Amino acid sequence: MTGQQPPGERLRNAFITGASGFLGYEIARQLATAGVATRALSRTGRLPGELANLGVTIVRGDLSNPLALRQGMTGCDVVFHVAADVTMWRRQWGQSVSTNVLGTRNVVAEATRTGIRRLVHTSTAATIGKPLSRRATDPVMVDERSAYNFHELAMVYPHTKWLAEQEVRRGIAEGLDAVVTHPAAIFGPQDWKHNTLPLLQAPKRKLAFAAPGGTRSICDVRDVATAHLRAAELAPAGAHYILGGDCLSLIELLGLIAQLVGGSPPRLELPDRWVKALGTTLDVMADLTGKPPLLSSEMATQSTFRVRLSSAKAEAQLGYRSRPPRESLRDAVAWFRQRGVL
Ligand SMILES: NC(=O)c1ccc[n+]([C@@H]2O[C@H](COP(=O)([O-])OP(=O)(O)OC[C@H]3O[C@@H](n4cnc5c(N)ncnc54)[C@H](OP(=O)(O)O)[C@@H]3O)[C@@H](O)[C@H]2O)c1
Repeated sequence: MTGQQPPGERLRNAFITGASGFLGYEIARQLATAGVATRALSRTGRLPGELANLGVTIVRGDLSNPLALRQGMTGCDVVFHVAADVTMWRRQWGQSVSTNVLGTRNVVAEATRTGIRRLVHTSTAATIGKPLSRRATDPVMVDERSAYNFHELAMVYPHTKWLAEQEVRRGIAEGLDAVVTHPAAIFGPQDWKHNTLPLLQAPKRKLAFAAPGGTRSICDVRDVATAHLRAAELAPAGAHYILGGDCLSLIELLGLIAQLVGGSPPRLELPDRWVKALGTTLDVMADLTGKPPLLSSEMATQSTFRVRLSSAKAEAQLGYRSRPPRESLRDAVAWFRQRGVL
């Protein structure tokens, strides 16, 4: 079931949201390269990099615009809904609900109305349930069966992405064929919105000698994009897939980044309560200045989770493999350096 053909070979026409962002760009690039006629939703009427040269057609509009979504989906067999507001700041609740929840509601409604063959919805590993207390010494392994269990923490990003999944679930109940992916922390080249840049710059900051005690599963944008094409082609309807990779402690991750960019590797693990107190303080300062915090209380809480993600299901059913973190980070650093920002 892992598919011997190159990814995308079984697809003819696709519509994608979020192609001006990190992951959506790479999915659109792989689709167009595989010869799939690809339309992309764009708020600005422009797409970055080589997408225009590869023949990707722009459909101008926003997730709040059902007519644009209908125009993009009509005649397509597969829709990749990748766009999202990835901000992790409580001040952004309204914006995140509008983009992630109501936007997905519109995508699901138009996908159902236009009768597309399949929706591939990009969620996140942040909606996978996890142990919230740090009693265990080693990170605990979780998989797709581990249900979202931290509603009460009211974290903007995981919660609005989880609510978006409920929109997809409702669509499935009404007959839509949909598959949901849960990528872990993505690295690699062509991060057009520079979302990974602050972490790559971290070893050069003053507080670089210490790091939170949590873990990150590192995956590569190119492998995650390929898994999306495979999910469109091979997955059973309704399936969910964690797309993870090697699990590193934040100390190991920042140490690896320090080797690639220079600066100091962290030597100390910060106690969870210090990390959370720092996040709360920076949130208050951000509320006063109106500028997004470098570490919000939500990011702080997430950086204390000690979890390993199992990608066994995606490996078995989609042939998913994530390359070593060093390669993803090396290529990310090279791309940012080429653009003169690192
Ligand atoms: N990056 C990660 O580590 C990671 C991990 C797990 C899951 N994910 C998921 O992967 C997906 C892509 O993330 P990313 O890192 O590629 O994000 P990104 O680089 O920030 O890109 C976000 C994309 O969404 C589009 N978008 C945002 N609001 C929109 C709206 N209202 N209408 C239309 N388009 C809108 C943006 O378009 P504009 O150019 O117009 O702003 C952009 O194309 C998201 O669903 C995210 O939750 C990402």
